[in-house]
Amino acid sequence: MRILSGIQPSGIPHIGNYFGMMKNAVELQNKGEAFLFIADYHSLTTNPDAETLRGNVINLALDFLSCGLNVSKTVFFRQSDVPQVTELMWILNNNITVGFLERAHSYKDKTAKGFVPNNGLFSYPVLMAADILLYQSELVPVGKDQKQHLEITRDLAIRFNNTYGDIFTIPEGFIPETSAVVPGTDGQKMSKSYNNTIPIFGNPKAQRKTIMSIVSDSTPMEDPKDPDKCNIFALYKLFATPDEVAEMAARYRAGNYGYGHAKQALFEKMQAYFAPMQERRNELEKDIDSVWDILREGAKRASVEADKTMEKVRAAVGLR
Ligand code: ADP
Ligand code: TRP
Repeated sequence: MRILSGIQPSGIPHIGNYFGMMKNAVELQNKGEAFLFIADYHSLTTNPDAETLRGNVINLALDFLSCGLNVSKTVFFRQSDVPQVTELMWILNNNITVGFLERAHSYKDKTAKGFVPNNGLFSYPVLMAADILLYQSELVPVGKDQKQHLEITRDLAIRFNNTYGDIFTIPEGFIPETSAVVPGTDGQKMSKSYNNTIPIFGNPKAQRKTIMSIVSDSTPMEDPKDPDKCNIFALYKLFATPDEVAEMAARYRAGNYGYGHAKQALFEKMQAYFAPMQERRNELEKDIDSVWDILREGAKRASVEADKTMEKVRAAVGLR
């Protein structure tokens, strides 16, 4: 089974990204033939400057490789290294109406907020469909917010196949129900846009400071506390074993256990959890050229699949 997913390179990853997406993406490499790409063409819709975009791409590659992505199992590449996807997008553009794209939620949400969209943002779902169909993907794990984009992809594929014959595999979306929302330091969903993130990599001193800033209620130290109403406990659960979780819950309920103690325990667990990944990242950072080589190698493998699809598509629409 071919499993494909793409991620936009957009800055420093936090533990919400890790438990909500990166960890799952890495685990999928054991469940089928995995393709994972860094969606830099999609990032252009927000007009980043060139250095920022390149920097975000290489950082995301480093993050994934440090977190256990194995390139002998996963075809790992940068979207723009396989430019055939833009040709497919152009062809697909002629099989979808403007009215249909105008109804896409993510586009509507952005324009409703007064954002003036460029044409790239408008066509974002068509590029995403091209990503998926180019590699004849069967399963596409995505977050809930991407569900409609997947439906658009399926719709396009079915319509295209009806007109031109059996060219594309019709993909299935996979939205992991279990992927819990990780809370940020203020208790809202952890998100770069809310400034409440705990980065997975970085200086331990800064990380400790961030953890110490997690908002808690004002129950006095001596009093019993309800662990299930506490962000610190919710975050601790991500890292600790069931026994350790039960032990911390008992301490909360017994009283004489302060939020400062819980924060220190969380800090230590988190450090221990990410330490091997941080070590690997430090090693990889010493040789950035070889990380670019890894991405180029992935693109070569992806390109073979892309060319197979494009031969069929070009012939079907009359370009050959
Ligand atoms: P952000 O909200 O920080 O900008 P993105 O929207 O770029 O994060 O999300 C990238 C991926 O990480 C998506 O797959 C998303 O579902 C996942 N993700 C982001 N924040 C969380 C969170 N707080 N809990 C669980 N998953 C998350
Ligand atoms: N739009 C996706 C997101 O923001 C990223 C993406 C681009 C993608 N192309 C894709 C995801 C193809 C899955 C398949 O999360």
